[in-house]
Amino acid sequence: MKNLFVPAFAVLFSVAIAVIAMDRMGVPNVPSVHTCTGECYEAYVAANGNILAQQIAAAEAAASASPAELGRTAYVGCTACHGAAGQGGIGPQLAGRDKDFVVTALTAYKNREARGPQSAVMYPSAAALSAADIENIAAFVESL
Ligand code: HEC
Repeated sequence: MKNLFVPAFAVLFSVAIAVIAMDRMGVPNVPSVHTCTGECYEAYVAANGNILAQQIAAAEAAASASPAELGRTAYVGCTACHGAAGQGGIGPQLAGRDKDFVVTALTAYKNREARGPQSAVMYPSAAALSAADIENIAAFVESL
């Protein structure tokens, strides 16, 4: 029992330090939620709405965004290989391709089918996409 005392104390001490440190870690320029109460919190809600209002606004913004706008966001992970404007690079040029082409290609990669010689490079990217993501990305690519 006595042998456990020092390790147990060390563990408790570390946890306490971690809890205090995490409590003090804040994102710069963003007021800590813990210290924003009373008038501070009321001012925050007046400026930004409460958490429910913020979530409703975010959901409405997402619902009213066009597929191409949603696709632009989903395309972020593709830019390293296909270029920000779809001009190509490691992967082929996508600009100029129509929606159907992109949907067919991405669906094939998602199903781990071989299209070109480097299809395996596309499998991880395509696997992460939902059917809706594919539709949105295709709309975005067509708009390039
Ligand atoms: C690691 C690099 C890489 C990333 C990331 C990547 N791609 Fe690709 N992409 C490729 C390569 C390489 C090919 C050619 C594959 C082949 O030979 O079939 C390709 C092929 C394609 C094709 C078929 C093009 C054609 O002319 O046949 C489409 C469409 C495509 N990618 C879309 C995307 C989208 C959308 C994303 C993001 C979700 C993405 N890619 C992410 C490298 C990448």
